[in-house]
Amino acid sequence: MLYQREVLDTPEWWRGLDEMIARERDANPGAVQTALIPVLHYVQDRFGYIPPKAVNHVAQALGVPTSYVCGVASFYSYFSMEPRGAYTVSVCQGTACFVRGAQAVLDEICRQLNVKPGETTPDMVFTVSDSARCLGACGQAPVMMIDDDVHAHVRPRDVQGILAQYTAKARHEMQLREELAEIDARSHHE
Ligand code: FES
Repeated sequence: MLYQREVLDTPEWWRGLDEMIARERDANPGAVQTALIPVLHYVQDRFGYIPPKAVNHVAQALGVPTSYVCGVASFYSYFSMEPRGAYTVSVCQGTACFVRGAQAVLDEICRQLNVKPGETTPDMVFTVSDSARCLGACGQAPVMMIDDDVHAHVRPRDVQGILAQYTAKARHEMQLREELAEIDARSHHE
């Protein structure tokens, strides 16, 4: 299964984006960057990253060069210009986790998903983070995070089961989104 974001690319969504851009522009006269940030969040919430099509669209709507939009998006670490998986997996690299076998957990994640740290699986379900500082849960070391979910005392043999839960979740969510996109498209044609 490919976690396809193309299904999210609907005319209705782009109309919603235009409305939002107009709102932000009117609320922030002369302050393009202030208007741009929430717009980029809106785009990233939808696609998981800022696709080139959205960069062009937003730049045109705000009357700024695409390089300006790219510059702002790359300045803030929470925006990504690269497609990312539906879930970001990270293993704490702090000292407590390191001494309790975090590296073996990370190695097992990479082995299971067949990627290196920093890479995204071809089905777009997981991105494995290449860095994670102490998550403040040292008593539960080694700690693995999937988005905001903390998995404590993880052993390499737990990895497969944990990842499987999220693969199932991604599949389910994708089905729901496809159904919603269909309903959305149908309701606009009626
Ligand atoms: S060292 Fe891993 S949570 Fe602190």
